[in-house]
Amino acid sequence: MKGSTKPWTSSTLKKHLQLIENNHQNNIDSGYTEKIEELDKNFKYSNNRDRNWSEPELSILYGTPLYQAASPSQKIALNHLSWVFQYEHTAQSEAETIHYNQITGGSFSAMGSDYEAIARQLEHESAQERSHIHAFYKVNYQTLKALLGKQAFINSSTNKSDRTSSGNLQSSTYQDYALRSIAKIMLKGKEQYHSQYLKELEAQNKLISTSTNGFFHGRGAIPQSLLRFFAVNWGSSPFLACQYYTVRFIANMLLKNKEYSIHTYCKKLQKQGEFVPVPTAISYYHLLDEAFHTTTSLFLARDLYKDLPKPTEYEKFVVNLAVYMIQRSNLNGISGVVVNRFYADDPPLMANIYKLLQSPVFDLSAPEALSWIEKCLCHEHEGFHQSAKFHQRLLSELRQFCARLDYLWPINREMRLMASGGSIEKAIQNNIKTFKQFSKTIAQSN
Ligand SMILES: [Fe+2]
Ligand SMILES: [Fe+2]
Repeated sequence: MKGSTKPWTSSTLKKHLQLIENNHQNNIDSGYTEKIEELDKNFKYSNNRDRNWSEPELSILYGTPLYQAASPSQKIALNHLSWVFQYEHTAQSEAETIHYNQITGGSFSAMGSDYEAIARQLEHESAQERSHIHAFYKVNYQTLKALLGKQAFINSSTNKSDRTSSGNLQSSTYQDYALRSIAKIMLKGKEQYHSQYLKELEAQNKLISTSTNGFFHGRGAIPQSLLRFFAVNWGSSPFLACQYYTVRFIANMLLKNKEYSIHTYCKKLQKQGEFVPVPTAISYYHLLDEAFHTTTSLFLARDLYKDLPKPTEYEKFVVNLAVYMIQRSNLNGISGVVVNRFYADDPPLMANIYKLLQSPVFDLSAPEALSWIEKCLCHEHEGFHQSAKFHQRLLSELRQFCARLDYLWPINREMRLMASGGSIEKAIQNNIKTFKQFSKTIAQSN
C-alpha cells in the first residue's frame, strides 16, 4: 500500500467518513456558535461586574495569602481576570488552529473526493473559531480596561514574545533550509498529497502567518524554524495531516480541563434561577461547540490513520517530536496561582501579576508587589494543591488517549514529561528560580 497514488478504500473507511459527516451535521444543527455571537453582541462589563463568572476556586491567586487578605471586590476582580487569562490563551491558540486546519484541510482535499467532507468540516470549524475569538476579545478588552485601566494594554518588557522575536535571523534561515530539506527528502513520493494552501503560503513566504504565543506555538517557546518544519509536515502526507490532530486533541482537552468547571457552574446558576453572567454563558456554549471539534480531533488522530498506508519511521518521528515539544512547553509544570496553566518556567505570569498588583485593583507599590509575588508563588499553599489536581486530571485523560496510539514513544504514550511536572515541590523550586531572575530584571529596569 505504501506509496500508492490511489485514494484508499476499506470497509471501515466509509463508516469513519460517515461519522465525520454526522458530527458536521450535528454541529451545524446545534446553533451554539450563533448563541456565542449573540452573547458577544450584548456584552457590557458594567452589567456583569458584580458577580463571579466561575467558582471562586478558579480565580487567579486562589488559596494564596494575598487572596485571603483581599476584599470581596478584589476577589471578584481575580475571578474575572482568571477568565481573561484563560481566554487570552484560548484566543491565541484558536488563531493558530485556524492556520493548521487550513494546512491539513488542503491535504485532505488532495487525498480525493471521499475526504472532501473532512476539509469542509475543518473550514466550518475555522469559521466558528473566528466567532469565538471575537467574543473572547470583546469580553477581555472591556474587562481589562475596567479593572486595570490603560496600563493593561502596555506590553511588559519581560514578556516571552519579546524574547523570542530577537533571534538570529541568519541562523534561523539556515535552520529553516536544513529542516525543510529534511522534510522534502523524507516525504519524497507523497507530493500529490501536498496541501494547496501550504504551497501558497510557501510561495508567499508566509508559512507562520501569526505571531501568537498560544498552545500550538508552545506559548512562544518552540523555535520558529521548528514550527515551520511542523507546518510543512502537517500539510505534506496523509498520516501527518491526521496526526496534527493528536496535538489538537491535547489542546482540546487542556481547554476542557477548566471550561468544564465553568460549564457546571453555569448549570448550577440556571438551576437555582440565578443571574448568569455573559462570560459564564460564553464558556458554557463554547464547551458545547468545542465538543464537536474534539470529536473531529479524536476521529482523525485515533481512527482515520488506520485506514491509510502505514506510517514511515520518519512520519512517526515527526509526530513524536511534536508531542514531546508540546509536553515540554505546555504541560510540564504547575503555577500554583492559575489552576490550569502548566508551564515550568513562566516569567510572563510574574510580569502580569506584578502589573495587576500595582493596578487600581490592589494599588500596591512596586516593592510591595514584588514581596507578595514571592509570598504567593514561592511557598506552599492551597492554590498549589488546586493546580496539581487539575494537572493530574488532565494527565490521566491524556494517558488514556495516548495509550491507544501505538506509534508513540513511551515518553509520549505515558506523558512522562507532563507527569514529572505535576509535583508541588518542583513547582515551588521552579518559581523560586524564575522569581530570582524576574526580580533581577525589575531591579535592572529601574
Ligand atoms: Fe473555539
Ligand atoms: Fe475548536
